Amino acid sequence: MSTQKKSERPVKVTTQTVVDMKSAGEKISMLTAYDFTMARIIDRAGIEVILVGDSASNVMAGHETTVPITLDQMIYHTSCVVRGVDRALVIADMPFMSYQLTPKEALKSAGRMMKEAGAHAVKLEGGKAIADSVKKIVEAGIPVMGHLGLTPQSIYKFGTYKVRATEEKEAEDLIRDAKLLEQAGCFGLVLEKIPADLAQKVSEEISIPTIGIGAGGGCDGQVLVIHDMLGMNKEFNPRFLRRYADIETVMTDAVQQFITDIKNKNFPNKDEQYGG
Ligand code: KIV
Repeated sequence: MSTQKKSERPVKVTTQTVVDMKSAGEKISMLTAYDFTMARIIDRAGIEVILVGDSASNVMAGHETTVPITLDQMIYHTSCVVRGVDRALVIADMPFMSYQLTPKEALKSAGRMMKEAGAHAVKLEGGKAIADSVKKIVEAGIPVMGHLGLTPQSIYKFGTYKVRATEEKEAEDLIRDAKLLEQAGCFGLVLEKIPADLAQKVSEEISIPTIGIGAGGGCDGQVLVIHDMLGMNKEFNPRFLRRYADIETVMTDAVQQFITDIKNKNFPNKDEQYGG
């Protein structure tokens, strides 16, 4: 049993919290994290939602796409994040080919993510094609976030990371898919790299919150990849990215100073060693 008094425990963010935030007109903040230390820092900073994105495939493992990361690897990253979090809602990405085959297989994968990693919810990419799987997972009591627009697991179908749904047909399909996902039971929806006016229209036409990345200010919340917003990945420069720090420079300077101090026999000094 917890020894913390009830009044000292943080009020946890739940899926209902983010739905209520949309109703109250309060914007939702979401960042990715993939490990314990980063999750603990951003949770304590007050972030409302943490996404264990399959962008771990890029920023943690160095793959070119999100396609190679496995369910076991996502379970590992998610379990690390969950251990660092007291307050935020932790959503785990279901990786490519862990939910596309059948609704039964999708439920089995989502169930592993909840039981083995301790995720609070899962995120799936796609619209109509995954609506039955969403329904099945939600019916089992697992909250699901959808993801439409530029869905990186389909990069080999798209062939490019350009803005999606600029043509009328794709925009209409996206609106239809957003409504289908809401009906299937999603509690929220990521909209990635679509025109701002389309994202605003979707946000107005569904009651669940939309979280945008490269989808403009009309979304109910915003998400960025933590490595990008902290400036740890400076080769990645899309228009939608705002950098809040230059951690690459901070780290490089610190490492170079460490090397210099060792070479100059300036580290460790007397206060940094034991004994006489
Ligand atoms: O994997 C990820 O980081 C994501 C966000 C970009 C939304 O899906």
